[in-house]
Amino acid sequence: MPTPVAILLSGRGSNFLALHAAIERRKLPAEIVLVLSNAPGTPGLEKARERGLEAVCIPHRAESSHEAHDRKVVAALTAAGAEWVCLAGYMRLLTSTFVRAFPERILNIHPSLLPAFPGLQAQRQALDYGVAITGCTVHLVDEELDHGPIVVQRVVPVEPDDTQEALSARILAQEHRAYPLALRRLLTESWSVDGRRVRF
Ligand code: GAR
Repeated sequence: MPTPVAILLSGRGSNFLALHAAIERRKLPAEIVLVLSNAPGTPGLEKARERGLEAVCIPHRAESSHEAHDRKVVAALTAAGAEWVCLAGYMRLLTSTFVRAFPERILNIHPSLLPAFPGLQAQRQALDYGVAITGCTVHLVDEELDHGPIVVQRVVPVEPDDTQEALSARILAQEHRAYPLALRRLLTESWSVDGRRVRF
């Protein structure tokens, strides 16, 4: 039986499409039961509807608090029957209410080799710092920003004359491989969390 998964996004949704494509190619034993965004008019939501998927927007601006918004999001995920949650460019920190509703069942992807360069514009941060290598990280989500135990990392060398756009594009290509790989391992292998490590 495929595992019911929800995707949360705030933007263009290319990581969502990579997960969807892996499912369609039968490389990932999952079913996307809901695509949810906090931002009205998100391109990712339109792409989900075009593929016949359930897609909803729960705007955070309409809510009285972060907590109130997360309660609504969790209710939507639960109603859809989601067992796993994949953050795919979802630009919101999760409250503990949200994290505790899906313990060790929320994944995030970030465009750097964490713990380097958490937060916004990770590719810009890497260029500004002058690192020779960067990459992407898929990790389990805890209550701190871009912080939980790491599942998969992929390395991307920084070129001498890199621009933010060129580097971001090369990292994104690796993200699209890393995310389906990480989710597949978690859904098909036996694993446990041991401190900061995910042990397969
Ligand atoms: C991706 O690069 C993802 O790693 C990043 O947002 C982009 C979303 O692209 N996420 C973060 O920075 C989270 N801290 P997408 O909408 O095309 O998947």
